[in-house]
Amino acid sequence: MKLKLWCNCEICDGYLTMSWSKQFDNLCDWYAHLLSKSPTKTIHIHVLGNTITANPDNVEYMLKTRFDNFPKGKPFSTILGDFLGRGIFNVDGDSWRFQKEMASLELRRFSIRSYALEIVNQEIKTRLIPLLSSVAGKEDGVLDLQDVFKRFSFDSMCKFSFGLDPRCLELSLPMSDFAVAFDLASKLSAERAMTVSPLVWKIKRMLNLGSEKQLKEAIKMIDLLALEVIKQRRKMGFSTHKDLLSRFMSSVNDDTYLRDIVISFLLAGRDTVASALTSFVWLLGKNPRVCSEIRAEADRILGQNQELTSFDQLRELHYLQAAVYESTRLYPPIQFDSKFCEEDDVLPDGTYVKKGTRVTYHPYAMGRMREIWGQNCLEFKPERWLKNGLFLPENPYKYPVFQAGFRVCLGKEMALVEIKIVALSLVRQFQIHLVSPYRATPRFSPGLTATFSGGLPVLLQQR
Ligand code: HEM
Repeated sequence: MKLKLWCNCEICDGYLTMSWSKQFDNLCDWYAHLLSKSPTKTIHIHVLGNTITANPDNVEYMLKTRFDNFPKGKPFSTILGDFLGRGIFNVDGDSWRFQKEMASLELRRFSIRSYALEIVNQEIKTRLIPLLSSVAGKEDGVLDLQDVFKRFSFDSMCKFSFGLDPRCLELSLPMSDFAVAFDLASKLSAERAMTVSPLVWKIKRMLNLGSEKQLKEAIKMIDLLALEVIKQRRKMGFSTHKDLLSRFMSSVNDDTYLRDIVISFLLAGRDTVASALTSFVWLLGKNPRVCSEIRAEADRILGQNQELTSFDQLRELHYLQAAVYESTRLYPPIQFDSKFCEEDDVLPDGTYVKKGTRVTYHPYAMGRMREIWGQNCLEFKPERWLKNGLFLPENPYKYPVFQAGFRVCLGKEMALVEIKIVALSLVRQFQIHLVSPYRATPRFSPGLTATFSGGLPVLLQQR
């Protein structure tokens, strides 16, 4: 497929004139609609040079069978290069392999699970629950849970990755400069990808104008703070510490590379978890039956009013696990992911892909395909993941929420632990009332990770 600056096919016309916005709240909803109508479940946006697919066979082909022919590619790494540098999210080849190996050593260790559980439990007990309790039952106690989840996961990821505590969840303190700069850099980098031609942002960057000037300033702040974190960690000594940064410091001496590594991990683990929690709580607010099932299961397995104390107990909560999978099926934190084809290729559905074409697989649309999930694909129904009461995973190429194949998410287990424990603590201790329960679908803001525009305002009542 050749990149065209103008094309009057129905889809490109809809994209360029934004006529889709008359019928759909979000671009991803329009794509899901187009993909569901396509016989191959693949469409082309010629003006973006983008082939988009929701076909599991194509996804498996890109992520596993012909992995080497579908790298992230240069266009993607240029867009995110200023922010992420050579971090794992933004590289292919040897640099990716090295970081993946190091991170896997750390993240797949059994003890890392209890370390993560310890961090998350402590953050819940000492900060999250006291904060929520302080507003529960108050008529004017509307709280934006999306903001709370972002603070929560930023604290957790910083403790986990660097062994340092930014205390973002202490609302009496201003949001840390680091977190603010991080949000801005993530938003502005994502906006680069939305311009029809990269020339637009490259010229703005060269002239240091508007959003590019803001991005440069945000990145300068991130660089300063990240290098400070590395300096402190070095001063404190790193050989006996359990965090990821310490592990990388024992084999990397280049501070800029270390900065890139830690920034990618923060991005990987912070916004994704906050996003998953936001949509999960939104769905729970709309589905009290599922809340009751989660509570009943917890009372049965843990005992009434008994806290969760171990991983083994968490593993026994099959309904909770099914509810998290079901929520991320409908609202994946990373709604789509693109690769760039190295050599001409043909996807399993017969789509010809020319060298250099951007090919995007779309987990958000895939969660809405009748052919994959059946007639009731739009319903929030955790039971679809259970067989005789036990959780049964699906083929990961039908549910590529954590990607799949060679570049599958390395933090999946940790993310699931975090989401399950937070959601469980919330529903067991509070009734959640959505402040605007009438919307059928959330509206998303542009960004690298799905974010509810307007946040998630709720009122809480202690149970
Ligand atoms: C609900 C939460 C999460 C979701 C939905 C998620 C999803 C994903 C996806 C889709 C990718 C592939 C991205 C790409 O290649 O462009 C990915 C990669 C990755 N994730 Fe996650 N993630 C989550 C949480 C986490 C956490 C908590 C961590 C860290 C502890 C983490 C660490 C990573 C890393 C290191 C990669 C890069 C893997 C590679 O390129 O080989 N993720 N994740």
